[in-house]
Amino acid sequence: MAITHPSFGKLEDDRIIIFDTTLRDGEQSPGFSMNLEEKLRMAEALWELGIDVMEAGFPIASPGDFESVLSIAQHFAKDGPVVCGLSRTAPADILRAAEAVKPAARKRIHTFVSTSPLHMRVKLRLEPEQVLDLVTSSVSLARQHTDDVEWSAEDGTRTDPDFLCRCVEAAIKAGATTINIPDTVGYALPEDMHRIFTMVRERVPGADRVILSTHNHNDLGLAVANTIAAIRAGARQVESTINGIGERAGNASLEEIVMALRTRHDAIATKNNIVTTNILRTSRLLATITGFDVQPNKAIVGRNAFAHESGIHQDGVLKDKSTYEIMTPESVGWSNTSLVMGKHSGRAAFRDKLKAMGYDIGDNQLNDAFRRFKDLADRKKVVYDEDIAALVDDEVVRGNDRIRLTALTVATGMATKPTASITLEVDGESRDGVAAGDGAVDATFNALRNAFPHDVNLKLYAVQSVTGGTDAQARVTVRLEEGGKLVDGQGADTDTIVASARAYVHALNKLLVKRERTEPPVVLRA
Ligand code: KIV
Ligand code: ZN
Repeated sequence: MAITHPSFGKLEDDRIIIFDTTLRDGEQSPGFSMNLEEKLRMAEALWELGIDVMEAGFPIASPGDFESVLSIAQHFAKDGPVVCGLSRTAPADILRAAEAVKPAARKRIHTFVSTSPLHMRVKLRLEPEQVLDLVTSSVSLARQHTDDVEWSAEDGTRTDPDFLCRCVEAAIKAGATTINIPDTVGYALPEDMHRIFTMVRERVPGADRVILSTHNHNDLGLAVANTIAAIRAGARQVESTINGIGERAGNASLEEIVMALRTRHDAIATKNNIVTTNILRTSRLLATITGFDVQPNKAIVGRNAFAHESGIHQDGVLKDKSTYEIMTPESVGWSNTSLVMGKHSGRAAFRDKLKAMGYDIGDNQLNDAFRRFKDLADRKKVVYDEDIAALVDDEVVRGNDRIRLTALTVATGMATKPTASITLEVDGESRDGVAAGDGAVDATFNALRNAFPHDVNLKLYAVQSVTGGTDAQARVTVRLEEGGKLVDGQGADTDTIVASARAYVHALNKLLVKRERTEPPVVLRA
């Protein structure tokens, strides 16, 4: 039966709503936090990707979370995805979420409460009847602020089936328009999902008038399989994150769900609004912002996802790609020309290349990125799409940085103590620093502390290569800690030391933004 939904109007039976929670469930996992600017960039990329609902955050969690959801709602005040704010059942939670999503053209409040015996007893210390009352009161209050209300049964897959049906019925009666049954702890098997969604559809009065939603965690590596099983049993909304980021082992990965649905349309005939050719760039933007690359063998977006190494496979692919490729790399945004540009390429060609890769950046960023591209092309024999993506993402991420790396010289060798001299531009003012260290990277970081005195802990330093070869770009991640706050910075360059300095400076900039959010603006020490 076709559903009429407050945010989407009349929905065709086979339409799947793509609900993205990268900025909420994804962002709240350790090390994945983003600042406001980064969230806005991700939000824009997610909108361009074609998601339907964007869970922008948990507004009551902190002033920063509130501000992010509010800013995203303001960003999408005229047009955009449904902007969703999460809340528990307390009126203060719901009102905070309502206030944060208010400016959005289309908005949703997502309220949840635990329904499993274990969570109710240990976490909430409430009797089931009290939880049932909370379902009604929270959804009713949310409905006073938005027509579009989602209700979730936290730990739904470990909830007593009869009680789950009673809760879902109460939520629908109170006005919920989407009912989400999360596998919060990643415990369910695909057959459990099928059984639960079939049961809710068959037993709960009014279930045919709302959208049933599935939200799966990946503790057993089954999040995507469980999502597909729920769709087969009638779920019409899938909750997922880019690159599968999220609590513990993560959430179901958006790109895997979408490509499974597309590739196996023969088995599950559904449609959605995702522009699949934007998948790779969205995945890469998230990796650049958070500093966590996906593993090489990650489905769809991993470096090896479309690489054929064995002779037998290569032979087959050369004869006919479909022998070993079930979807085309181009369909998710991989370019089929690996060697792209050289040092003679001009600005117009560079702009065209970026366009073909799905980047739409402003003139100033383009100028800076082009300058770095020329510099890279001078130093590197071949410039691949991956190199350009790393460089542009790097530039985009650095848009409003207060501290910039302008020069770095390092002297090192077997018989010399490594020394580094660095020049930074801090709020437009040039600052120099010189220091020695226990290695080139250590000397560089010491010089940086010299040029811009600060007291933070270095928690992680990791180097990855963007492409193969000795002239490959290195992508470095640096994690800094200050007063319990963690930030990750990234930097890419053919020179690992320069990439390291960029990454450190990036992390430092993020720390400054974090400080400003909780304290009055920092006066930089001379
Ligand atoms: O995993 C979960 O149960 C959640 C809810 C808040 C929807 O993230
Ligand atoms: Zn979750």
